[in-house]
Amino acid sequence: MRVFRTVAEVRSWRRQLAGDLGLVPTMGYLHEGHLSLVRAARAADAHVAVSIFVNPTQFAPGEDLARYPRDEARDLALLEAERVDAVFAPSVAEMYPPGFSTWVEVEGLTARLEGASRPTHFRGVTTVVAKLLDIVQPRRAYFGQKDAQQLAVVRRMVRDLDIDAEIIGLPIVREADGLALSSRNVYLAGDDRRAALVLSRALALARRMSDGGVREAKAIRAEMEALIRAEPRASVDYVSVADPDTLVELETIDRPALVSLAVRIGGTRLIDNTILGAE
Ligand code: PAJ
Repeated sequence: MRVFRTVAEVRSWRRQLAGDLGLVPTMGYLHEGHLSLVRAARAADAHVAVSIFVNPTQFAPGEDLARYPRDEARDLALLEAERVDAVFAPSVAEMYPPGFSTWVEVEGLTARLEGASRPTHFRGVTTVVAKLLDIVQPRRAYFGQKDAQQLAVVRRMVRDLDIDAEIIGLPIVREADGLALSSRNVYLAGDDRRAALVLSRALALARRMSDGGVREAKAIRAEMEALIRAEPRASVDYVSVADPDTLVELETIDRPALVSLAVRIGGTRLIDNTILGAE
């Protein structure tokens, strides 16, 4: 497995490859969710590249950039075991040299949900993903449904900018008790780990209501919020029942619906989601 630190190294490796290349962009501290994307790439593409870069521009001041978990040696061992061909793990200065001043911004979609709570987040995501797609030139790039809005925003960017890569979205990988895997789960100690189950329980409630014939989105949001309010360690950031492509809130569930939520558990902000009517 090759480990590259510079854009120039990746480009010269890429140029001599024949066959499809799959790219899995990550911020490292890898878990089974990331590895599910790597395995999908390994199954579909002749060559697999993974990027590991804790992208500072998608963190706002006061967010967890400095304490975001990192363990490159462990990540590289996991990727080696998955038979990844190349890892791109650049420095911040390599990706954002002095004088960097160009941004990729998807409008509209990014104003909602995560974007409403974190106004500069998606500009950082789309800028770094556009750079990674241009540097690595993959045939396919793999993203998790865990970050449903990120997936929708990246799809829109690739369409709007005619980027020649196929964006593949893959299901959320969960712990046995329902907690969606996340690098940020390391922040959950003791009672917070148990309290974090309110997210998947609220989504299960939404699914039961929908399966039971409830079509009114407002009723589903209200019941989910009530369930979360019953957990004293949790506070709701948003609960949404929206169109999966436009992220516009639905009144009536008469088509597939993205049910998503962001909840603070102590000092940790967690997100989760499910799609009703499509599984
Ligand atoms: P990161 O949070 O490291 O996630 C990398 C990829 O793994 C994303 O596509 C994310 O949706 C996926 N993923 C995370 N947890 C998952 C789970 N439980 N099940 C399935 N997939 C999961 O998302 C980012 O990094 C960054 O924003 C990035 C796209 C790399 C740009 O910096």
